[in-house]
Amino acid sequence: MSYQPIGIFDSGVGGLTVLKEVSRILPSENIIYLGDTARVPYGIRSAETVTRYSFECTEFLLRQDIKLLIVACNTVSAISLKEIREKVSIPVIGVIEPGARAAVNSTKNRRIGIIGTEATIKSSAYLKAIKALDKDIEVFGLPCPLFVPLVEEGWTDGIIARLVVEKYLKDMMYRGVDTLVLGCTHYPLLKGVIQDVMNKVCLVDSAIETAKVVRDILEEQRAKSKEQRAGDQGRLKFYVTDSTEKFVNVGERFLGKRIDDIEKINLGR
Ligand code: DGL
Repeated sequence: MSYQPIGIFDSGVGGLTVLKEVSRILPSENIIYLGDTARVPYGIRSAETVTRYSFECTEFLLRQDIKLLIVACNTVSAISLKEIREKVSIPVIGVIEPGARAAVNSTKNRRIGIIGTEATIKSSAYLKAIKALDKDIEVFGLPCPLFVPLVEEGWTDGIIARLVVEKYLKDMMYRGVDTLVLGCTHYPLLKGVIQDVMNKVCLVDSAIETAKVVRDILEEQRAKSKEQRAGDQGRLKFYVTDSTEKFVNVGERFLGKRIDDIEKINLGR
């Protein structure tokens, strides 16, 4: 089991922020990443469609004999995680619970802000996960739909990013939150600008928290890659449902390293 890969999927390129953290703290793990780039974004679609797409991604990764599945997409984690877990027998890790737990541990004034896609905020998944841990914490959700195209375009700093971030987060500043959850795969790339605008606020990056949960589960199940003990580097394999070229261009920025082993596949019927 320890040599089997970890499977990660996302609606597109954004989940590479999660892959980056997982391979940083578990460098010897073999990881298979699937980005459903032909159908991104998921964040504007109905729950039914998001669940159908996520089943297709899950089935593909199960056929690659993965030992653990990471649902890197906040939108899928918010909407379809329970149904995915019911379908499979391996551990399935979403990004909502780890992010919610880190936010609860961080807040002092018990006021937490959540930013994400329309679908994630509408689902109230973060709110429910936080309230399940502490029902007295106040939670403020805010969709920031322009953040995703901004990041995909590579505009993660400079005046345009700053103005867009300021415009969205103005209301959040007045709410007096002391903790803000970056509840979307793309938002960690805007961390610098967001932190500048919300300068006294603690930013919670779900990707980092999720990677820690994955490490704990593999340790608990003694399923960590054997090579890890020898300090070797695991293999990273990428699958996409649209052009590999576009994914490599944007993806290398997300990952901060080269993407070599990549293949285009078809999902769905
Ligand atoms: N991966 C999505 C998320 O984390 C953002 C992009 C999309 O809308 O598909 O919610």
